[in-house]
Amino acid sequence: MAEIAVLGFGVVGSGVVEVLDKNSGMIAKNAGQGVRVKYILDVRDFPDSPYKDLIIKDFETILNDSNISVVAEVIGGVGVALDFTRRSLEAGKNVVTSNKELVATHGFELLRLAREKGVNYLFEASVGGGIPVIRPLAQCMAANIVTEIYGILNGTTNYILSEMAKNGADFSDALLDAQRKGYAEADPTADIEGYDACRKICILSSLAFGRHVYPQQVRTEGISGVATEDMRFAAELGYKIKLLGRSRAIGGKVAAYVAPHLVGEDSLLAGVEGVMNGVVIRGNAVGNVVFCGAGAGKMPTASAVVADIIDSVKHLYARKWISWDDGSDDLAVDPAQLESAWYVRTPATREKVAREFGEVVFAGKTDDATAFKTNVMSGKIIGELLSRGIPALSLFRVLGDY
Ligand code: HSE
Repeated sequence: MAEIAVLGFGVVGSGVVEVLDKNSGMIAKNAGQGVRVKYILDVRDFPDSPYKDLIIKDFETILNDSNISVVAEVIGGVGVALDFTRRSLEAGKNVVTSNKELVATHGFELLRLAREKGVNYLFEASVGGGIPVIRPLAQCMAANIVTEIYGILNGTTNYILSEMAKNGADFSDALLDAQRKGYAEADPTADIEGYDACRKICILSSLAFGRHVYPQQVRTEGISGVATEDMRFAAELGYKIKLLGRSRAIGGKVAAYVAPHLVGEDSLLAGVEGVMNGVVIRGNAVGNVVFCGAGAGKMPTASAVVADIIDSVKHLYARKWISWDDGSDDLAVDPAQLESAWYVRTPATREKVAREFGEVVFAGKTDDATAFKTNVMSGKIIGELLSRGIPALSLFRVLGDY
């Protein structure tokens, strides 16, 4: 029987304990032995929980228990989570996590520590919630040179944008609903402003391109600038608006960013609605591979954490292969050099737009704004054209094969 500890009994932590309990027979079969939660670490008391007897408050108890072979860190953040992860790995315990902030900021260091100690540090749940994407990228696509990754990486913002597009829902009502359903981060700013998606594209990029891409190297824009008119204009042009994380390899460097995009109604990601996430990974042998499923929420995230627990138990005396090298200041290049068509909403007249841009596709018009789609050009060129008296109320890339 493998004995494990769960750090944090919040939404994901309670899901992990429940899945381990509910599916114990199947999990024992898959892991090659039973898996028992011996401790749950949390600062709070849970007098009504069926697992209340497992709750402890002192991390040292876990650290000093040599029978604990796997620690599931589902606390989140980079405070105590970093400290507990380091100390668990140093003590020779395997660690699994859903903590994207920690992997995105300290992944290189923690993976190196795990390697030195001969244990595993696994993080399937850190990207895409319940969708298998880390393992397929690291293992099943190992024969490929990955050239590009893009995707809907945040369930909360996708839920909000879907509700706004479908029902004309109010932004704050949709956010409240997402929080009630347990999708949003404790502080929803991380979702709304794109920081959560940024952390996830950092993890995918580091894994795909082999060097750590840090959050400060990824230009990040959230959805607070997406207006209801943009939804309507985009639909008139045949598009939906989605928040995408995107990363492309360019001559040994990486151009990565997070921003709202227009995606064609018949494109791979257009049908990814609500809390679902969708990730497209392009390999030079396999072509485009699409991963899609529940990107947030208690049980989908727990499903991925428990899969890593099972994998760790199966590999107690062997290491998994996931790792990458450290990054550097000059690894990231400015994504403005990437070309695309663009969507612009502006108070400038159509005549003025036509004069500066030449041929464009106009969407509808309101009393004080018009919207249009440009030809393909870099971020630098569109910046120059807009600077000639065409102020952009909204400026989003149009996803395409450029
Ligand atoms: N807040 C995140 C989201 C949770 O909405 O996608 C899953 O990482």
